[in-house]
Amino acid sequence: MTAAPVDPTSTSAWAELDAHRAGFTPDLRGWFAADSARAERLSLPLADLHVDLSKNLVTDDILASLVRLAEQTGVAERFAAMLEGAHLNTTEDRAVLHTALRRPAGAEPALVVDGQQVDADVQAVLEKVSAFADRVRSGEWRGVTGKRVTHVVNIGIGGSDLGPVMVYEALAPYADAGIQARFISNIDPTDLAQKVADLDAETTLFIVASKTFTTLETLTNARLARDWLWAQLEEKGAISADEAARTDAVAHHFVAVSTALDKVADFGIDPENAFGFWDWVGGRYSVDSAIGTSLAIVLGPEAFRELLAGFHAVDEHVRTAPLAQNVPVLMGLLNVWYTNFLGAQSHAVLPYAQQLNRFAAYLQQLTMESNGKSVRWDGSPVTTDTGEIFWGEPGTNGQHAFYQLIHQGTRLIPADFIAFANPAYPLQDGGRDVHGLLLANFLAQTKALAFGKTAEEVEAEGTTGPLVAARTFPGNRPTTSIFAPALTPAVLGQLIALYEHIVFTQGAIWGINSFDQWGVELGKQLALQIAPALEGDESALEAQDASTKALLAYYRAQRKH
Ligand code: F6P
Repeated sequence: MTAAPVDPTSTSAWAELDAHRAGFTPDLRGWFAADSARAERLSLPLADLHVDLSKNLVTDDILASLVRLAEQTGVAERFAAMLEGAHLNTTEDRAVLHTALRRPAGAEPALVVDGQQVDADVQAVLEKVSAFADRVRSGEWRGVTGKRVTHVVNIGIGGSDLGPVMVYEALAPYADAGIQARFISNIDPTDLAQKVADLDAETTLFIVASKTFTTLETLTNARLARDWLWAQLEEKGAISADEAARTDAVAHHFVAVSTALDKVADFGIDPENAFGFWDWVGGRYSVDSAIGTSLAIVLGPEAFRELLAGFHAVDEHVRTAPLAQNVPVLMGLLNVWYTNFLGAQSHAVLPYAQQLNRFAAYLQQLTMESNGKSVRWDGSPVTTDTGEIFWGEPGTNGQHAFYQLIHQGTRLIPADFIAFANPAYPLQDGGRDVHGLLLANFLAQTKALAFGKTAEEVEAEGTTGPLVAARTFPGNRPTTSIFAPALTPAVLGQLIALYEHIVFTQGAIWGINSFDQWGVELGKQLALQIAPALEGDESALEAQDASTKALLAYYRAQRKH
């Protein structure tokens, strides 16, 4: 869609929202007291998720204006265009089709985009990944010395790392084949050194995951991993130090995932052992592509397909639900309300599930790489603030760290609370369900944030003097509660897709191409120019600005060679 984006600030809905904002006094206590149906009306189902929007700072009138904003900026039409393969990624002239990765086999009508049989290609790769995963899981695939794989090490960064590692941690209780996964991403050599330190090369399988297969971090780590493999196997006498033996070792211990299969071959990995995807899958939207090969191995192809089905259920909801009942659209609209009308700059995501300890990190790439933009898809400047800062930690840990600021600080921080009715590990403490204690905290925090504690209530407890103010909680701190029966593969897919489409909604309203990431390029280029200066190249040093030169001088003085 190359038509000029609608300027959201020029719509009548925006003017309505401006009018709502003038003199806006949130009053969650009053709103709940006056409207016994508020919680029920604003709690919506989304596949297996129960999403309670009632503790957000909106009246029905404000919500209606927000829905009109989505109508007037064409959110639904843009979503439909994405599903059909329109080139929404204008700066790279690409379709945006991560939703095609989770269409069920045999979906009708078959999706054909730019001459490509998309469904057929997606299913072919999924079958190839599944067959490979089954071979590794069953022990049919063996290392060069004939041993079964016990550890799968994914080497990738950004979208080629954050999705797999987040899902692995989230679904670890489903790992049922005695195979563990590790994830190496950082070019800091510590990452690789520590992650392989206790591994046995004979039982380790590396997956080099890189959409472009040009990423400095990933290719450097892949070479280091290959050196480690050869060195350990040779030291053990498991292989000889000749080229044929080394090539054979790579064939048994390295596979790859990429859109650039020619570059995979250049690295020495047999294209037979490579799994492809396509340029219409953005890195941060790729965990449900072959980028999830480590997950298919560790969790099994069936669990991986359940994850995909979870994504698809939410895609279908977004496609078919009216805007006023469309959960991802409503959550995106609430974010617009907080960002553009109430001045919020950040958004907390607080899962009451230790298994989701990498969820916020995953969402940071999804949200901030997608919507951290200052120009619109036609190249013109944005007309309003965009891209809030996403952050978070699992509860209850966050409660003992930063919740103070959310409860009593001066900043508005909308927060999503996520919890599951059933635990992965139903432990008891002296007969007491520990998961119940976790959930009591999940419920207590959103209640405290919404309704606070007045000075009168503090005084009624016997507190007097200046302590009263310190112990008062203002309330009216907005939260959304997302509850699900259990953290299953399908539920996790639903959660991820929910956030993908929240991002989509905000990008569509702001007129942003949420699918490119040019902002990461300059730093990459400069790092390549500066690297020689660290290796002693004087002309590279001289070419730098005064601050960089001084830092390089410090480095040279400190570095012990
Ligand atoms: O630098 C950002 C980025 O391009 C991300 O968008 C991407 O997920 C990551 O690098 C890794 O890229 P690749 O999968 O091509 O190695």
